[in-house]
Amino acid sequence: MTQSMMAQVLSLYASASVIDRLHLAIRWYLCPFDKISGYVPKGGLIVDVGCGHGAFAALLALRSPQRQVLGVEVAAHKLRVGRLATAHLPNLLLVQGNALAIPARQCQAITILDVAYLMPPEVQETLLAHCHERLAPGGTFLLKDVDTKPYWKFWLCNAEEWFVGRLVSRLTGQQFHVQPVRAFYYRQAADWAEALRRIGFRRVQTVRLDQGLCHPHVLIISQKG
Ligand SMILES: C[S@@+](CC[C@H](N)C(=O)[O-])C[C@H]1O[C@@H](n2cnc3c(N)ncnc32)[C@H](O)[C@@H]1O
Repeated sequence: MTQSMMAQVLSLYASASVIDRLHLAIRWYLCPFDKISGYVPKGGLIVDVGCGHGAFAALLALRSPQRQVLGVEVAAHKLRVGRLATAHLPNLLLVQGNALAIPARQCQAITILDVAYLMPPEVQETLLAHCHERLAPGGTFLLKDVDTKPYWKFWLCNAEEWFVGRLVSRLTGQQFHVQPVRAFYYRQAADWAEALRRIGFRRVQTVRLDQGLCHPHVLIISQKG
């Protein structure tokens, strides 16, 4: 991420609370949004599922006016903050909704960044099938999650998720995860790739994005055949 682009996106949230801004800034330093955005088509309807505060969706919208970006998020607080911050962007809309009911069809791309691990395996499979159904032929599906290897990165990430989740909930008085999460459902990248092929996605490829980062970020790119 060029510093100026990151600063531009984070500046949208200047009127958000300190906790929200801190959350966003840390997230942007830990997650390779810039690299992921490079795999997103430059035009058409792009849906970011579980968009959180909408920062990645805002990056996509700012980077290409040819994109119409729709962010879908279930958590009311994040959505409120995101909407306030991005209301002036003409090619971005953030809506409240569940990942399993994407309110658009014939999407050019669907992106899911660090959301699927919150869902049990049967819900993950339903989500993948739903995304396949919502994509236009040839559309791109980008699933970013964390791999279970190397182990030290995985366990660090897992421990952080529990700790930060509880700390943020305590500081803000709000549930960090929108529903009480009893477990995280991480999967190996190869397992994700196999599930995508089974559902009918083609040209499935896995890209590791964790060089120099302490989280085992992995991006699984695929297309609707
Ligand atoms: C770890 S955060 C990632 C947020 C954002 N994608 C990012 O990369 O910064 C996971 C997000 O998924 C949202 N989420 C979880 N389950 C969801 C569901 N069933 N439908 C929509 N959003 C969901 C949470 O509210 C949360 O904002």
